Amino acid sequence: MPRILSGIKPTGVPHIGNYFGMMRPAIEWQDRGEAFYFIADYHALTTLHDAALLRQYSRGVALDFLACGLDPAKATLFRQSDIHGIGQLTWILGTLTPMPMLENAHAYKAAVASGGDSAVNLGTFAYPVLMAIDILIYQSNIVPVGRDQKQHVEMTRDLALKFNRTFGESFTIPEPSILPGVETIAGLDGRKMSKSYNNTIELFAPEKALRKKIMGIITDSTPVEAPKDPTRSTIVDLYKLFASESDVAEMESCFRAGGTGYGDFKKQLFEAIWSYFEPMRKRRSELEADPAYIESVLAAGAERANALAANTVHKVRQAIGLQ
Ligand code: TRP
Repeated sequence: MPRILSGIKPTGVPHIGNYFGMMRPAIEWQDRGEAFYFIADYHALTTLHDAALLRQYSRGVALDFLACGLDPAKATLFRQSDIHGIGQLTWILGTLTPMPMLENAHAYKAAVASGGDSAVNLGTFAYPVLMAIDILIYQSNIVPVGRDQKQHVEMTRDLALKFNRTFGESFTIPEPSILPGVETIAGLDGRKMSKSYNNTIELFAPEKALRKKIMGIITDSTPVEAPKDPTRSTIVDLYKLFASESDVAEMESCFRAGGTGYGDFKKQLFEAIWSYFEPMRKRRSELEADPAYIESVLAAGAERANALAANTVHKVRQAIGLQ
């Protein structure tokens, strides 16, 4: 049984990019191994400094994950900050981490590009080391993530190999698992869907808000009568995630035929998204009515994850000469 691990940063409300890139694959993996999924609240602190919001988003992520089908009888769901030894091992691994490796991280470079050096804190710079420990502390085998996290998993592997070479076999070397086809989900403006681009579609937005978002998808100005190119349309790209093959083929041929405006295609997309999440919305409102249940799931998850983490902490302290 492989041990599967992934994390999601509670810096906002989960959106369709998170769902297809991480949540849905993670839920599928829960039947194929021993799955551990956590809410990366320490990682969120690199950008979010608002206690009430952090609490709200963390709880929201747990709720959405459970609503979407994460089964606590199969998968262990927990908060990163409930695990003892994460900070300790991050420090230790940091002492083996070359500066140039971190300087080369896409996420760090993007943070510098958008805010300048002085806007980047040590947490952002050390983000890949913390993420490596998230993975290594449970001796994980497989890490289902979106394409944007691939580099972080590669750094994890490099650091684990270096640690093992230096101090003896201590960490399992993990493999990333990136689902083909859904690596990058288009956002409302056609760029990659991302909270930082403000182009996301939340999974559980209320009907009116969702409709408004979908109607706001940016299109070109091809007139209603004219044929349209389905291969270069955000509407079609998103529709493919929710509709059957035959419905997609139908929309594509209507694009090519002309005579249908983008507004009508957007309405079809809205309907497809709304009905896709219908059962999950029902489940979510049941769960929302029982906050004690979510807390009990997270507490039981933390207990299981802590048991694994404690073994690794012990092993590492031995290996490096602290014990
Ligand atoms: N960095 C990931 C993200 O931004 C979240 C994350 C933190 C993670 N630790 C992890 C993902 C460990 C997989 C494994 O989405």
